[in-house]
Amino acid sequence: MYARQYRKIGWISVAACGTLLAIAPVSPAQEPPRVASPDGRTVVTIEARRSGLFYRVDRDGRTLLLPSRLGFEFKGAPPLRSGLEITQVARDSLDRLWEQPWGEVRYVRNHYNELRASIAETADPGRRFDVVFRVFDDGIGFRYELPEQPNFGQFEVMDELTEFAFADNPRAWWIPSNWPRKDRSEMLYASSPVSVLDSVQTPLTVESTDGRTVMVVHEANLVDYPRMFLAGEFLESRTLRAALAPMADGVKARGHTPFNTPWRTIQLADRAADLSPSVLGLNLNPPSVIEDTDWIHPMKYVGIWWGMHIGRDTWASGPRHGATTANTKRYIDFAAANGFGGVLVEGWNVGWDGDWIANADQFSFTESYPDFDLKEVADYARDKGVRFIAHNETSGGLANYERQLEDAFALYQSLGIDALKTGYVTDEIPGGHSHYSQVMVRHHRKVIETAARHGIMLDVHEPVHDTGERRTYPNMMTREGSRGQEYNAWSGDGGNPPEHETILYFTRLLAGPMDYTPGIFDILRAGPDGTPRAPWLPRVRTTLAKQLALYVVLYSPLQMAADLPENYEGQPAFQFIRDVAVDWEFSATLAGKIGDFVVVLRKEKDGPDWYLGAITDEEPRSFDITLSFLPEGESFVAEIYADGEGADWLNNPLPVEISSRPVDATSKLTLRLAPGGGQAIRIRPAE
Ligand code: NOJ
Ligand code: CA
Repeated sequence: MYARQYRKIGWISVAACGTLLAIAPVSPAQEPPRVASPDGRTVVTIEARRSGLFYRVDRDGRTLLLPSRLGFEFKGAPPLRSGLEITQVARDSLDRLWEQPWGEVRYVRNHYNELRASIAETADPGRRFDVVFRVFDDGIGFRYELPEQPNFGQFEVMDELTEFAFADNPRAWWIPSNWPRKDRSEMLYASSPVSVLDSVQTPLTVESTDGRTVMVVHEANLVDYPRMFLAGEFLESRTLRAALAPMADGVKARGHTPFNTPWRTIQLADRAADLSPSVLGLNLNPPSVIEDTDWIHPMKYVGIWWGMHIGRDTWASGPRHGATTANTKRYIDFAAANGFGGVLVEGWNVGWDGDWIANADQFSFTESYPDFDLKEVADYARDKGVRFIAHNETSGGLANYERQLEDAFALYQSLGIDALKTGYVTDEIPGGHSHYSQVMVRHHRKVIETAARHGIMLDVHEPVHDTGERRTYPNMMTREGSRGQEYNAWSGDGGNPPEHETILYFTRLLAGPMDYTPGIFDILRAGPDGTPRAPWLPRVRTTLAKQLALYVVLYSPLQMAADLPENYEGQPAFQFIRDVAVDWEFSATLAGKIGDFVVVLRKEKDGPDWYLGAITDEEPRSFDITLSFLPEGESFVAEIYADGEGADWLNNPLPVEISSRPVDATSKLTLRLAPGGGQAIRIRPAE
């Protein structure tokens, strides 16, 4: 079935067919305007009532979102809340296939019907704006467009009144917005009915109580505007409202017309397994502004990183300094010997001594510590065919970073450094702005644009969430923005529980790639006498086979082999990390239940291999998979990395059983996963 789908995608022509269908004035007596998805299943209705402007969403004749408010509140100007009329509607549609330079899928179909409703304030000052709905088979995007006009120039948005009024009381998987703590997104997910939510982050995934519909609320093309959270209106309410991250003075967005907000997106699917790969947000971002993308290359990397997180090495200077020239060369040799593209080095630059989170203004992004020779390392890496991946931790010191940005990126470019990891560890952006405010969104855009000019790919930690920027700037490759592997090194709660990644796949990863940093083999972290750590201390809470499966399940175009090189020595399972692809022609979720399990299939791009990754929570599970996606009549070999006899995440995480067997399109595989386990399979052509 997947092969068929895949072939079908292959023959959709890349020809565009965008047509402006109609523009029509609206009289008050008319039926509210509606627009349906190309498959006719989803219908959006927009309606101006005396109390305000509302949209409604129905699917298969069932209401998913009740009339939900649209509008704004401003500082120093009346709100756009009520007294609004629809003056005109225009319709459009598009069906176009476009190709990604890299991604989970090579081709993306952008197929929608559009309704543009022109709205006017009935009383003075008679301001006008449009609400544009694009309805796809896989969901909805809508945004506000504020045209230039005499009575509506500069504005200060205090609130966006956009609502999502769920008809049902669906179950949500969520992390709190933690605003106004101005923190990050590194939390474990909880699950509860929408009616108990206070303020949560997006993407917010919800499943209807009858199990017939899964919805994901998020945003796309976030430019020069704050990030959106979702807030419950009052206790027991099923209505969530857009809540924008504030700047220090409480204003959410400053701008002037003409102005477009980000798209508010509602992805729709019949089952969770149909949510990924998610392309709705990509389709709502402008095409790439980088013409030549040849220099942008997905890769696997290793790094001077885990050693600091487990407290063996230091970012700071001193006897345990990780980022020395000699140590970096050792990592470069290891990367070269194992076919990895890059070596990340943290702690190479001046500024880490003392409390580096507090010393945001101390970081230099060009000056290295005396025991680290940047040029020597960059040259050595290049000679070995490996890229040095620089690291810029800013601790949220925007001014310090922006002051050095141009010089630092020019230096990196001159040294042939084309990849950079950035970080924003802080609870307080100087000046008191939210970590997710318009100020931060502007900052991140500036970094992306500067990096693009200097031929630099980005991996952003503590980012603003992904809203599909990678379509416009394919150098914006991956980000963290969720609780990653690092928590298994030092977290006070012991680490990420076995269900964690089975939730991430259906929530955080729907926004875009995540630099989770899989591949920790030293799960038990035994002491010098060989005694494993006590189970309540921080450590990885998966089997080793599940660490392998994460390379297939958790998509990232920059994918780390996170453990210390010495922990991969003599480990046959390391072969899977060496082999696994990082760029995909095609991806599909074969099975999945949020918080329980996921089985993912991916076809390597520009190569013949297929990969399967399956992960489970603390329950053991098995899956029967028919390999009908393989091309008929061709012979393959499945290289299988399964949980070994008696494996379980808590007491016996290490056994991996490696086997291989001939397979073809008629073969069936049974994947047996241990508690907290996983399975990784490479399917390659038979010799
Ligand atoms: C947090 C990041 O997530 C981690 O990867 C990095 O090592 C530290 N900050 C230091 O920058
Ligand atoms: Ca982090």
